Amino acid sequence: MQKYILAIDQGTTSSRAIVFDGERKIAGVGQKEFTQHFPQDGWVEHDPEEIWESVTWSIKTALDKARAGAGDIAAIGITNQRETVVIWDRATGKPIHNAIVWQDRRTAGYCAELKKDGHEPDVTERTGLLLDPYFSGTKVKWLLDHVEGARARAEKGELAFGTVDTFLIWRLTGGKVHATDATNASRTLLYNIGTNQWDDSLCALLDVPVALLPAVKDCADDFGVADAGLFGAAIPILGVAGDQHAATIGQACFEPGMLKSTYGTGCFALLNTGTDRVPSKNRLLTTIAYRLDGKTTYALEGSIFIAGAAVQWIRDGLKLVKHASETGPLARTADPSQNVYMVPAFVGLGAPWWDAEARGAIFGITRNTGPAEIAKAALEAVSYQTRDLLEAMRKDWQGDGDTVLRVDGGMVASNWTMQFLADILDAPVDRPTILETTALGAAWLAGMKAGVWPGMAEFAESWARDERFEPQMDAETRKAKIAGWDDAVRRTLTSQM
Ligand code: G3P
Repeated sequence: MQKYILAIDQGTTSSRAIVFDGERKIAGVGQKEFTQHFPQDGWVEHDPEEIWESVTWSIKTALDKARAGAGDIAAIGITNQRETVVIWDRATGKPIHNAIVWQDRRTAGYCAELKKDGHEPDVTERTGLLLDPYFSGTKVKWLLDHVEGARARAEKGELAFGTVDTFLIWRLTGGKVHATDATNASRTLLYNIGTNQWDDSLCALLDVPVALLPAVKDCADDFGVADAGLFGAAIPILGVAGDQHAATIGQACFEPGMLKSTYGTGCFALLNTGTDRVPSKNRLLTTIAYRLDGKTTYALEGSIFIAGAAVQWIRDGLKLVKHASETGPLARTADPSQNVYMVPAFVGLGAPWWDAEARGAIFGITRNTGPAEIAKAALEAVSYQTRDLLEAMRKDWQGDGDTVLRVDGGMVASNWTMQFLADILDAPVDRPTILETTALGAAWLAGMKAGVWPGMAEFAESWARDERFEPQMDAETRKAKIAGWDDAVRRTLTSQM
């Protein structure tokens, strides 16, 4: 019996493939960054062909490192950057345009019009989302309206739409399967999270032909078979979830009230609310945490667009450090008497502000401010923003028990950042031993479906903590720091909320 599981984690800035062995330990990793295209202010695109190449390269590398062949892999689990839109030709598999990335703001004006026309309450009721360019639906419409001939071809059924998972499934199966899972569907603005179906009235509102849409499956389901020609043997694809949902699973947040936050390009906090679809009064999102055996578990989500991306900017834009990992040590040398705040609204602000037109700002700069203070402000912004999300969650959902935040993603390796997070949240922060939580979640879906990994309870029991960060900051300091942040945000917003 094959013992390995292959997780594909297709993220915003890089693609990764991870081979897990029978003990759920990492046996091999392949990772490749790809090009970010910024054609205009607020626009972000990816080349789907480059994504595909980076994925196949990463898979081959991970298999080599694990000294495994495709024939040793029991199943593939896919997890992906969500909301990013690809439309391709069903006959050739060729994309008709670059992918429009979740961070892209080009449909901000259209979203504002829809809001002005009073559509938001109904859209939120059906999808759990808000009218923000972040979600896929308005990006799909933009492509159909701007790529010559696309709308007519879409209506004739010649084109296919997908988030990145769907595009990868299509490519892996040689065009045999056009499918997504319920979590990815729940981010499109076209999917009704109550009925668990594509919503005809939303498709009509956003002018998206139903013929474009993929079939929607459970997260652990039969998504077809990766072609034997690609890696040397056919491999079934048995798990799919959007990256934040996969991280929720990988963090074993299976009980209502459990909460995780992932620090990748952006930061996304998900609170499991069980079978209750909790509407937010504080501009959070209601989303599908996962759907297993036809049973939907919901979550409240807070989405921050820029977290690790600010560190990337410190490295590549400002060139203050050579490696992202130098940012924490640099921040530690900052002058503690300076109160510099960075509001990293590079692509607008997400939850709970949802200001698509806001742009980043740095406040409190003096003649003494240097690279260390800027780096510190970038790292601290992540904690302040996480606090804004958790405050909104506390208002929306009164579960019992104390909040403990399970964290993962590249930035959580920094003890300094995690301590500051616990201090600002005034709540404990748990870092697990396995930081590849997103990939682990996708692997669990596939491994469990394949029958080679345990069920939910045993998997949850195996979650282990590496370190707990307890709050140490005194209440007065915390209060003053948060007041400074609130003021910085207020000055960054384009409209006062
Ligand atoms: O919603 C966007 C999110 O899925 C992107 O995740 O890990 O690439 O920051 P990440």
